[in-house]
Amino acid sequence: MSNPARRIQCSATIDVSGHRASRPPLVIRKLLCIVSVLVFALYLAGCNQGPDSPRGFSLPEGSAEAGKQVFVELQCTSCHKVAQVELPAPEIALDMLIVLGGQRASHMTYGELVTSIINPSHKFIRGHSREAVQKEGVSKMPLYNDVMTVSQLINLVTFLQQQYEVLPYQTTYYPYF
Ligand code: HEC
Repeated sequence: MSNPARRIQCSATIDVSGHRASRPPLVIRKLLCIVSVLVFALYLAGCNQGPDSPRGFSLPEGSAEAGKQVFVELQCTSCHKVAQVELPAPEIALDMLIVLGGQRASHMTYGELVTSIINPSHKFIRGHSREAVQKEGVSKMPLYNDVMTVSQLINLVTFLQQQYEVLPYQTTYYPYF
């Protein structure tokens, strides 16, 4: 009995006269490649321009120094340390230490920072167990939306954004044998 997988492979590569079927000409292959790249780019552009896209979002410039004070005043220090920044001890230190700032493989964007403060359950921090940071899909971080002013938010974000360092891109190393 002939192997069906083998038959399928043969029909794809050999034409009726027994010659190897030729691949489409280079120009056609190039054209197909360009068209697929364009379609993909249009798809991405479409995703970024919708009514829910962050396009056009911008907060006025804030003060990092004022943001640091807000961080202490609002007792963010109960649960957070900020890498390489000395901050006064919190009134109540909770057993939930999450370090903000430091090295990351990619930028912590302005949008991500604002979102993680005003909508903490939108996306959970990586590198911590689920139980440590959320309960039934809700972040253990309190909501400050009714107590924080917009100016405090702007300053907090300015302060925190300066604490992140972006790691240089690591190229793949191919050993030479
Ligand atoms: C009761 C503890 C608690 C307090 C107080 C708290 N947070 Fe959080 N925070 C968390 C937890 C838990 C997470 C991780 C879960 C998540 O991403 O929502 C988090 C995540 C964050 C993140 C995202 C970090 C990342 O790398 O994704 C930021 C930014 C942040 N908090 C800022 C603040 C600021 C600013 C304050 C004070 C206004 C504050 N937090 C107060 C518990 C707390």
